[in-house]
Amino acid sequence: MPGLFISFEGIDGVGKSTQADALEEFVRSKGFEVVRSLEPGGTELGQEIRHLLLHRKGDVAPRAEALLYAADRAHHVATKIRPALEAGKVVIQDRYLDSSVAYQGAGRELDAKEVRDLSLWATNGLLPKLTVLLDLDPVAARARRDQTGNEPDRLEREKIEFFSAVRECYLQLAADEPERFLVVDATASREEIQECIRARVAELLA
Ligand code: TYD
Repeated sequence: MPGLFISFEGIDGVGKSTQADALEEFVRSKGFEVVRSLEPGGTELGQEIRHLLLHRKGDVAPRAEALLYAADRAHHVATKIRPALEAGKVVIQDRYLDSSVAYQGAGRELDAKEVRDLSLWATNGLLPKLTVLLDLDPVAARARRDQTGNEPDRLEREKIEFFSAVRECYLQLAADEPERFLVVDATASREEIQECIRARVAELLA
């Protein structure tokens, strides 16, 4: 595909959207068209699914949760991401399939391979060219998230152990696919992180 697909991953509170915003500005300054998106909720249908997943009262069975994220992703890829990539645009996105593998796989103890296969089916096999993993200790991440003053959503209310399992899974995914992943230490300064991501993206744009 002519475009370039970049995803940002990491546990809640690591600064994904701040870094994705900064990258968007950088890529635009190089003269490329950018589509900035997120999951869950990158489309109108996705916004409704996002609400069900994060703000509806009551539990969601783990397999139902995995299917709802996959449904959001399927519609998002088919109606927004694939068309943008086919038109040669750069897609910069908060979260993608690795979030499902890490949160629903490791966090919820579903089989990680099954969750990945479900997402690959949902997206007809679309993977990012680059996935930036912002890595941070869950205790530090929670402190940062709490500073925002926003009410935590259903996932953010999970225990630290949940986020430790998610973090470990992300690191394993990165070790399994070193070509696709760029792991960045999220304790570094905002500028240092930005520099590191820019260097890698500049190579891909060249
Ligand atoms: P996010 O939009 O990053 O949260 P916020 O806007 O509150 O910072 O993601 C919402 C939550 O959904 C987040 O806790 C991670 C979770 N999630 C999954 O569990 N699986 C998935 O496949 C995705 C995309 C997100």
